[in-house]
Amino acid sequence: MLRRAPFPRPSAAAVDKARRLLDRALGPSKVITSPAGCEAYAGDESDQEPVIPDAVVVAETPDDILRALAAASEAEVPIVPRGAGSGKSGGAVPVGGGIVVTTLGMRGIKEIDREELVAVVEPGVILGDFHAAVEAEGLFYPPDPNSLKMCALGGNLAENAGGPRAFKYGVTREYVLGLEALLVDGTRLRTGRRTVKGVTGYDVTSLLVGSEGTLAVFTEATLQLIPKPPSVATLLGLFDTALASGRAVSAIIAAGLVPRCLELLDAGALSAVRARGVPVDARAGALLLIEVDGDPASCEAAMERIGEACVAEGALDVLVAQDAAQRERLWEARRALSPATRAMARYKISEDVVVPRTRLPDLLREIDRISEETSIRMLSYGHAGDGNLHVNFLWDDPDAGPRVERGLDRLFRAVVGMRGTLTGEHGVGTSKAEYLPLEQGPELIELQRRLKAVFDPKNLLNPHKIFPRRGHGVC
Ligand code: MLT
Ligand code: ZN
Repeated sequence: MLRRAPFPRPSAAAVDKARRLLDRALGPSKVITSPAGCEAYAGDESDQEPVIPDAVVVAETPDDILRALAAASEAEVPIVPRGAGSGKSGGAVPVGGGIVVTTLGMRGIKEIDREELVAVVEPGVILGDFHAAVEAEGLFYPPDPNSLKMCALGGNLAENAGGPRAFKYGVTREYVLGLEALLVDGTRLRTGRRTVKGVTGYDVTSLLVGSEGTLAVFTEATLQLIPKPPSVATLLGLFDTALASGRAVSAIIAAGLVPRCLELLDAGALSAVRARGVPVDARAGALLLIEVDGDPASCEAAMERIGEACVAEGALDVLVAQDAAQRERLWEARRALSPATRAMARYKISEDVVVPRTRLPDLLREIDRISEETSIRMLSYGHAGDGNLHVNFLWDDPDAGPRVERGLDRLFRAVVGMRGTLTGEHGVGTSKAEYLPLEQGPELIELQRRLKAVFDPKNLLNPHKIFPRRGHGVC
């Protein structure tokens, strides 16, 4: 864990007032104030140090959220919306104390319309449950972050979640037609539409999606669905080095093939997979996990051409999953990478950088150089088709923080230098806030601060996220 200066917390008087207001408005059954009870809402899956909030509101309805917002506004304490807590950038960590409002209890799938290809959902619906519900209707919701069995749609919306299928289908924002949301002053906002097309006014829906819980709290979303692809096929390409697998990614894309997933695991990630008992050829120093979908004939043809492209780029072996069970085993190993790498060292940071796909080999080389220079163990895996790699720093020495900071700084500078971006799907949160000025100019950052102030003039809703502290920020 890297040491970061703590953020200021509200005064004891403000906390007392907030608790009294919450108790009066919501009653003890929906409000937690004991430190032991609040502790479960202190952290997320990022490297941000957990911070125990002063109170937690367990919302069951939009009115519960409204009351929590009113109490926060009146007592002038921070309020942090929270889904399942599976975020990777500290977005749901109440770094400035105050109230956490969890929407995980709002799990209604209100509607699945097969003719309009639309679903209406509450924010606490677990993504995996939603996938199952729409697929039972012959429909498909493509966004699939790897935490899909535990993450909630509200959090996916807040972070504009991606996932392996983003290569073909895009990210969460592309499937959000409309939102119902609450502003911190209690305004009930309805944005967007239910139709496929629509350009009325500013695109406030798109602004709210990916705003990391800093502008509004979602109470409902209208989501676009597509027909479920009739057939899926999955292939593994084994390579001796990550560089060779990176070249195969470029070759597949250049051949005009559009698999739905194009995932890369380097040697370190493969050792995490092997440690979980998944047998991977000992010669392999990197792996591509590739999946296509569509009608059966086109899937078969695409698999053949992808296999040929891998072999042409020096693949040691190409293996095709024989059935759904085999495919699921491969994905389970891939999805387990995040917890598996956590078990590999005392401390871990997983980054989420993106470079133009053609620069992937350059990024892989830079990662090796950073690891060598800082003597920090690094491994990478992720959505190579999108140029999006989860670069992991792993270390045991509690004094290695400065070396890790140096490595992070160098990684981010290299990525921005390649015209890439700091985060492809995890969000800025607190973990990358200080680095924002590396990628965005002061004018753009200031404009976003002003937008935040329009929605939340007292800066109570999920403060300290996205933006560097005044006077801080790496340049
Ligand atoms: C993933 O792709 O597995 C997730 O985005 C999480 C991560 O490992 O950083
Ligand atoms: Zn990912």
